[in-house]
Amino acid sequence: MKIDVATLFPGMFDEVLGSSILGRARGKGILDAGLYDIRDFSSDRHRTVDDRPYGGGPGMLLRPEPVVACVETILAERGPGHVVLLTPGGRTFTQAVAREFAQMDHLVLVCGRYEGFDARIRQVLRPDELSIGPYVLSGGEIAAMSVIDAVVRLLPGALGDAESAALESYTDGDDLEAPQWTRPPVWRGLAVPEALTSGDHARIARWRSEEARKRTESRRRADADQGDA
Ligand code: ADE
Repeated sequence: MKIDVATLFPGMFDEVLGSSILGRARGKGILDAGLYDIRDFSSDRHRTVDDRPYGGGPGMLLRPEPVVACVETILAERGPGHVVLLTPGGRTFTQAVAREFAQMDHLVLVCGRYEGFDARIRQVLRPDELSIGPYVLSGGEIAAMSVIDAVVRLLPGALGDAESAALESYTDGDDLEAPQWTRPPVWRGLAVPEALTSGDHARIARWRSEEARKRTESRRRADADQGDA
């Protein structure tokens, strides 16, 4: 799968794309990632990419020319793709959206900075718009990294067998996982629940599904109390 990123801060992606599962996916040819610096598409001497909003107001907006030139260059060089703008006003990114994206051949993630985008960027690119959650980040970069990570994990061959098995247990709307323990069996006076060390697989399965149910209920209650569904 190809994933290209249009950003003012390509350097932010180096470590994330080079490490762990994403680094390995690139090494295996499962992920072909490209970074494009929006500033390279500015046509003026000072390489400006932003300007003040007409009608006044705080902050600066991304100008349409460099952003659109950057995305059009990506599509010309790397082929047709699904263009996504990362913005707090977009539809919410969920595991279901990650699964939808994992079926695609080419994603183009456009990261905003400053106070937002000139409205003509949306009119011309007609992008999908995504938010990773109801809070405001300083830019789309960290959101784009979250999207890349969640999508690439779903590509065949990206995970090892153990990691894949662990992923099976998470789909949105389903129960959370039961808590888990590893060695030592007792630490700071805290012991591993007896059911888990019993060796009785049916009992272990029952214990885990009951704990998962309790945990899910208590999380849903906490989310509802916070009023931010
Ligand atoms: N840019 C700023 N905040 C964001 C968010 N929550 N999701 C996606 N992009 C963003």
